[in-house]
Amino acid sequence: MLDIDFIQWSNKYLIGIKTIDDQHKTLLEMANVMYRAYLNNKHHEILESSLSKLTEYIKFHFKYEEDLFEKYQYPNKDKHILEHRFFENEISKFSEKYFAGEKEFPIIGENKRKDLPESMKNPEDALQSLATGKTGSFIYALLTFVRKWILNHIGKVDKNYVEFLLSNGIR
Ligand SMILES: [Fe+2]
Ligand SMILES: [Fe+2]
Repeated sequence: MLDIDFIQWSNKYLIGIKTIDDQHKTLLEMANVMYRAYLNNKHHEILESSLSKLTEYIKFHFKYEEDLFEKYQYPNKDKHILEHRFFENEISKFSEKYFAGEKEFPIIGENKRKDLPESMKNPEDALQSLATGKTGSFIYALLTFVRKWILNHIGKVDKNYVEFLLSNGIR
């Protein structure tokens, strides 16, 4: 059982509002669940439910932030909300593709899997090496997009509202 995280949590992503930090950790963990399933050839079974769960959780988390924006009239709310809508749209495009059958998932061969632990110290290399050619391209594209967007959003965009919310007494 390969147990490697694709998105490493780091305290530099903490924004200082506990409920939201916990939600961000859950989001990263959901992406890591997909990645581990991929490494262990279980993605066939779990990707469908993982995608639905991720979609639901994203909606829940974005609504949580947006309700606070509305309640306290966060000045940059419109721009921030647009970013949320963009991500939701992209994820739903991935879902549509998936359910339309555009999912060429490789079964990682036994030989290849045996070699994985040594060659997979770095999750980035791991995914790259699995995503050669056409096979694996769907989940590779999905996971790299999710990681890039979430880390940028949590690490930069969400941090912009922290001072404002804290000054309104949100903890
Ligand atoms: Fe967030
Ligand atoms: Fe956000």
